[in-house]
Amino acid sequence: MGSVGAKEIPQLLDSNGKRIDGRGLEDLRPLKIEAGVLRRADGSALVEWGENKVMAAVYGPREVHPRHLQQTTKAVVQCRYNMASFSVDERKRPGLDRRSQEISKVISEAFESVLFVEEYPRTSIDIYIEVLQANAGTRCAGVVAASVALADAGIPMVDLIPAVAVGKVAGKIALDLKKEEDNYGEADLPMALVPRSGRLVLLQMEGHMTREELAQALDLGVRGCLQIYQVQKEALRTRYSLESVPSAGVEA
Ligand code: CDP
Repeated sequence: MGSVGAKEIPQLLDSNGKRIDGRGLEDLRPLKIEAGVLRRADGSALVEWGENKVMAAVYGPREVHPRHLQQTTKAVVQCRYNMASFSVDERKRPGLDRRSQEISKVISEAFESVLFVEEYPRTSIDIYIEVLQANAGTRCAGVVAASVALADAGIPMVDLIPAVAVGKVAGKIALDLKKEEDNYGEADLPMALVPRSGRLVLLQMEGHMTREELAQALDLGVRGCLQIYQVQKEALRTRYSLESVPSAGVEA
């Protein structure tokens, strides 16, 4: 343990190169995705990723609220990311703060670029992301959950979007930061990928990296996204396999 002022800083990498939870630099936290968990939403998904628990619910294409946001040539994509008061160590003040607004905006833009919005003029595609338990990487967990929820709602899109945060901890590039790594590391780089085209539709960065480190981080993030993509597809396969539909094949 090092210390800055009165605060203890955890040792982020041990002498064997292992991280505080025993992971290697290129390891993801355990990830579980369940599709179709909410009865009233058109599509939904629950993502449990390390200590994150994030729910996504999707509605639409449907009437636009508020009406003045309606667009005559395409659907509007409205994402609302919300962090529950009980999701973090220190109670978060309920309601929309600047951070939630920023995250909602970047996620809306990411999905607008993969949904066939021109096919649904004058409508809204609404994505609700509720963070129930947070441990860094919640915007990425939100994108992962929302992708599966959109597919569960049957809304056509170019591809599912996997997402992950890469960062720099104790001088090394590491995949999928957890909270201590996010807080005490040198950089945090959340990203979201469209696997089909290789295009990044969300890329943010906090902290500092050299050009070489950035290239390494992007490469590691893309590889991480491709692993997450498999788990997303598996969640949809599980939801829509014939065995999971009790009445499948039964004639009236
Ligand atoms: O969650 P994400 O990494 O996408 O966003 P962040 O702004 O980098 O936040 C990192 C982490 O800090 C969150 O996942 C929470 O665990 C924590 N946090 C918190 O404890 N209280 C807040 N008001 C906001 C974030």
